[in-house]
Amino acid sequence: MIKREQIEEMFGDLLTQIQDTKLRQQVVDVWYMGCEEGGWQSVDALQKMPFTLLTETHGVNFIEHTIAVTKGAISLAQAMIETYRQLPHAIDIDRLVAGGILHDVGKLLEIESDGDGGYRKSLNGKCARHPISGAMLAARLGVPEKVINVIACHAKEGDGRPQVIETILIHQADFATFNPLVMKNKGILIED
Ligand SMILES: [Fe+2]
Repeated sequence: MIKREQIEEMFGDLLTQIQDTKLRQQVVDVWYMGCEEGGWQSVDALQKMPFTLLTETHGVNFIEHTIAVTKGAISLAQAMIETYRQLPHAIDIDRLVAGGILHDVGKLLEIESDGDGGYRKSLNGKCARHPISGAMLAARLGVPEKVINVIACHAKEGDGRPQVIETILIHQADFATFNPLVMKNKGILIED
């Protein structure tokens, strides 16, 4: 059984960037519930879990992906905050970090072990993709609706839909880490 403290340890650097202690606790609680309902028993199991079934991940696991996407989005936000003389839109760092850590939490329900060293889409995942199941999980724990927008709309479900700026930043960081792998697997990523 994965403990709350282990989740806090996995995302420690990022969690401390969430100033609102209630939101910080909710992020941990959503992850905790996702692990419980998805049947993930250990941090080791999470670290073996690929972050997607849609393409070969070249060893990038789910935790690494979640952290890299969140850090990438924070850096993009900081670049705008530090560079623009006048920021055309406010960026809420609490919402950005919470949304980043939670954007793929539904994958804990969408992906399961096939019992033979591989992974497959679960029944839950067939019924509702991770942006939907993650948003439902977060809503049950009272996560604010604008953070739920990040979870629900960070992927194709959000195309053309109203989004907070933090959703756009997480979406871009997510696809900046996903597309190169898809392209590499198709042989269209130019490499040395
Ligand atoms: Fe993602």
